[in-house]
Amino acid sequence: MQLSLRQLFLRHQAQTSPAPMALEVVSAEGIYLYGANEEQWMDMISGISVSNVGHRHPHVLKAINEQLEKYMHLMVYGEYILSPQVLLAQKLVGIFPPLDSVYFVNSGTEAIEGAIKLSRRVTGRSKIFSFKDAYHGSTTGALSLMSSDYFTSPFEPLLPHVHHLNPGDFSVLEFIDHDTAAVFVEIIRGEAGAEPVDSEFLQALRLRCTETEHSSLRMKFKQVLEEQEISLLAWEKESFLTYLSWRREWEAGCRSVLL
Ligand SMILES: Cc1ncc(COP(=O)(O)O)c(C=O)c1O
Repeated sequence: MQLSLRQLFLRHQAQTSPAPMALEVVSAEGIYLYGANEEQWMDMISGISVSNVGHRHPHVLKAINEQLEKYMHLMVYGEYILSPQVLLAQKLVGIFPPLDSVYFVNSGTEAIEGAIKLSRRVTGRSKIFSFKDAYHGSTTGALSLMSSDYFTSPFEPLLPHVHHLNPGDFSVLEFIDHDTAAVFVEIIRGEAGAEPVDSEFLQALRLRCTETEHSSLRMKFKQVLEEQEISLLAWEKESFLTYLSWRREWEAGCRSVLL
């Protein structure tokens, strides 16, 4: 008996939860997903924001097709000189002036792992701080930065010397000291319900990190693009305009804190 795609999925593909959404998608265009039986779904998730310019955007398709005509994967990042990588690095350092070098990875959680390792290696320090109710990814180092038992309890013990602070509580800043390798802060905490961290607290945090930082290491800012984009799709026009003005202020605030 020939198994359906759904049966094969359930039988052979590891699922992320006991109740996967299991939408059987045959194509996607713009904000819509299409199913085998002519179903049309508005995509409010956008690949958790990875596809946030819409599915099969013509500019993205054009760029991918042009690259496919030349070469695909050749070598790990940072070995060969490959124009897409070099030009993207140049663009990114133009957006974030304190940074002048980019290390490419495949996922958010790898970025966190890289930042943990880099901070420990460069400073020779081991203490790391992060904030409660943040989400940083699913690898062991990133999990260690998270405070929720829901994510961490099956995998303990995790990394030592990691401490979780309450965001917005100025009294915790004194814990950040000259043994601290890094502070990880999610500026909008997704797991707390898309909760922005108070900008005065962020400025005080920046100051404390500057006072205690090793050479020119910068604390790493992260933002929950996913939650923002989902909200953006779901909100009505009025909320959307309020959101846009809030986001502009928020971005300007972050930029001034970062610099
Ligand atoms: C704030 C934040 N950090 C890190 C991650 C991990 O990224 P990835 O799933 O690409 O490993 C996510 C993923 O949702 C995230 O929302």
